[in-house]
Amino acid sequence: MCGIVGATAERRVADILLEGLRRLEYRGYDSAGIAVLNDKGLEQLRRVGKVQELTQAQAETGINGFAGIAHTRWATHGGVTEANAHPHLSSNRIAVVHNGIIENHESLRKELQGLGYTFNSDTDTEVICHLVHEELKTQGNLLNAVKAAVKKLEGAYGTVIMDQQDPGHLVVARSGSPLVIGLGIGENFIASDQLALLPVTRNFIYLEEGDVASVTREAVTIFDHTGAQVEREAIVSELQYDAGGKGEYRHFMLKEIHEQPIAVRNTLEGRVNGDKIALDAFGEDAEAIFRDIRHVQIVACGTSYHAGMVARYWLEEYAGVSCNVEIASEFRYRKSHVFPGSLLVTISQSGETADTLAALRLAKTLGYRSTLTVCNVASSSMVRESDLAFLTKAGAEIGVASTKAFTTQLAGLLMLVAALGKANGVDAAVEARIARALASLPSKLEEALAITQEIEELAEEFADKDHSLFLGRGDQYPIAMEGALKLKEISYIHAEAYAAGELKHGPLALIDAYMPVIVVAPNNELLEKLKSNVEEVRARGGIMYVFADRDAHFESDDTMHVINIAHVDEIIAPILYTLPLQLLSYYVAIIKGTDVDQPRNLAKSVTVE
Ligand code: G6P
Repeated sequence: MCGIVGATAERRVADILLEGLRRLEYRGYDSAGIAVLNDKGLEQLRRVGKVQELTQAQAETGINGFAGIAHTRWATHGGVTEANAHPHLSSNRIAVVHNGIIENHESLRKELQGLGYTFNSDTDTEVICHLVHEELKTQGNLLNAVKAAVKKLEGAYGTVIMDQQDPGHLVVARSGSPLVIGLGIGENFIASDQLALLPVTRNFIYLEEGDVASVTREAVTIFDHTGAQVEREAIVSELQYDAGGKGEYRHFMLKEIHEQPIAVRNTLEGRVNGDKIALDAFGEDAEAIFRDIRHVQIVACGTSYHAGMVARYWLEEYAGVSCNVEIASEFRYRKSHVFPGSLLVTISQSGETADTLAALRLAKTLGYRSTLTVCNVASSSMVRESDLAFLTKAGAEIGVASTKAFTTQLAGLLMLVAALGKANGVDAAVEARIARALASLPSKLEEALAITQEIEELAEEFADKDHSLFLGRGDQYPIAMEGALKLKEISYIHAEAYAAGELKHGPLALIDAYMPVIVVAPNNELLEKLKSNVEEVRARGGIMYVFADRDAHFESDDTMHVINIAHVDEIIAPILYTLPLQLLSYYVAIIKGTDVDQPRNLAKSVTVE
């Protein structure tokens, strides 16, 4: 989703801004722009399409300056056009970049038009720059003007504002959209994600909700939501961003699929010891909190929601704890009942997804016993705002379609199952079984990747298809959902997932020889039930692709292609079966020639509603 980079320095900053944008490309965007301050005043350059096109335009025009702001836009208000791309200007004096959505933009627009301002875009953002321009008339300086302007904004914003008459000064404001300040020596930077600034600094200050900050080359001054000046702790980032990036792989997604054994190993390291799961992986107070937990409410979006759905099967079966799972955008807008002793669990790769974060904030007002996040970014809002946090160690995930974040989330959630089970007095044998199964997982994942070539060949059969159906049962049902999500995200083939038992209640009507049916076969007592569902498809002329434990005794024939998966303890089977489905969607997308790492219309981190 939208990305922000800003810089004020003694050197020219265009390259820093453009490199920052390039590093944020993975988040998904449709246009990009830059504005710099130099002797000529404010200069702006915007392009629809890739950052590369903006970079080329910058090289051709030579536009540069000692302070600047830059942005990648993911359209919300107004189409994908150069006029709607950021930065937006007011009277060639104020320049603004903005992430988020200004909800009262229509009334502000009318008000500002009444004051004589002309709007050049259809965006909600443009109201910010005219508003700041208007406030400057009475507030005297940029900082005070921004402070006054943000009081009038409703909605979410992470914004950076520059004034042509106050060179080298950037004012930033955060409410609902993350912003980080990068500290340099005699230069300072701003970004929506620290990844953008790693070439220039490793020292960061995270702005908190309601903060407004003044950033110059020499100083950073922060004011909280009450207007009081505050000190915010600087942290040293250890995040790795390998700009060479893809290594031997053609896409980040393929690299990240292949990184899963090591990502899971890193996630387990020091936390699974013999037959034991280390409780401190969840935070200092985990042991005391877990003893009080009688119910778990999971809230998440997208792939993370699917991880939550798998966890529900596990929690109820192995930990004896009841569990609900809900999509965050639904949870946050309905009245829900909070069971006594409930733990609110958010699952998020980024820790910044707007709906999940809003759900967490809502839950904190509803009487949950505690909140826990399973998250991949230590510095994220969700980690900072939750009582407990389990950090997955997937490393930076660049491909928009989530892969290694999902499998590491599942590993973390399985540890949570063991921990809650133990706190609930479940037999120690369950913890031991989970610990041993998890310890075996990295090598099993490596084995699962060995079938890459078989999947690559299989992908040929999907390339001319418009629709597909994924089936699973039990804890493999969410894996079927995740498989369908991957296929539609990156190959644009319509993919639906059903619990196989529901087939006869509708989807059977879709079955014919042109509709591939992908089946994820469980390795448990549901296997026989699933085999009956497979027969229902076969009887209607369906063509099936069955991913099954080699001991499940499925045989390939004219209508059924069986892909054998290594035998594992059924408890970790959902994690293992995820990999071939990821590979299938990847190779189908390759044949279809889509943009695998940045699929159309999608964003990596969805920081607006
Ligand atoms: C976007 C991404 C998905 C991700 C979802 C939730 O839709 O494209 O890959 O699963 O957001 O993101 P989160 O960071 O909260 O896991």
